[in-house]
Amino acid sequence: MTIAILGGTGKEGAGLAARWALAGHSIIIGSRDPERARAKAAELRERTRRITVIGHSNPEAAQLGSVIVLALPAEGLGATLPPVREVCRGKVVVSTVVSLTFGGPRLFTPPAAGSSAEEAQALLPEARVVAAFHHIAAHELAETEQAIECDLLLCGGDAEAKTTVTELAASMGLRAIDVGPLSNAGPLEGITAILATINRRYKLTNSGIKITGV
Ligand SMILES: NC(=O)c1ccc[n+]([C@@H]2O[C@H](COP(=O)([O-])OP(=O)(O)OC[C@H]3O[C@@H](n4cnc5c(N)ncnc54)[C@H](OP(=O)(O)O)[C@@H]3O)[C@@H](O)[C@H]2O)c1
Repeated sequence: MTIAILGGTGKEGAGLAARWALAGHSIIIGSRDPERARAKAAELRERTRRITVIGHSNPEAAQLGSVIVLALPAEGLGATLPPVREVCRGKVVVSTVVSLTFGGPRLFTPPAAGSSAEEAQALLPEARVVAAFHHIAAHELAETEQAIECDLLLCGGDAEAKTTVTELAASMGLRAIDVGPLSNAGPLEGITAILATINRRYKLTNSGIKITGV
């Protein structure tokens, strides 16, 4: 698959890019600055020894990708998505976005839409948004020689899109669990705040979710 990662210069996006490049996918790193995207792509080619990683501006990446991954801070959705609305029409868009506010009274601070994934769906009404990868930490993704131990929870309104994301998860060794419609994205994103709190409390870096009985 050709996967465009908007905000792919960051920790989460670059980690996903490395895992998927190693799994044989073609990766387009997107950025607000095409030079930064090209530099990150070069770094990832060097790290993974895969030549199928290139860099572009976010809009060019979204145009070239068959699957679009949102790996940018929640506050960036409002500016980043309207310009790519047309090129995302009909495509699978994976939102990894979680709105966390550190240092305030409430760690998980979802937008008015209920979740960042629903905000993305409202901004990209013709796209097929799937919420996933919130619980897979960037540093775990980066340690590409190690398997990731947890399950991947995903939700969305389009069954075919969820199958695509399930395949993308499997290609990096993750079992995907379908947790229903996109209206479940709020609770799904909120679990990230729980995991971050567990990590802090127990001095961990990699607490994760595993579903039993499935
Ligand atoms: N880090 C994790 O372990 C983790 C785990 C699960 C989910 N997530 C979620 O994944 C997303 C990315 O996380 P991250 O840690 O990779 O974040 P990050 O490094 O802070 O940001 C990722 C990239 O987003 C772009 N960006 C920053 N501010 C922006 C804005 N206002 N508008 C548009 N683009 C902006 C930047 O790229 P350019 O400057 O090159 O455009 C940056 O390199 C977040 O929503 C986060 O909640 C993160």
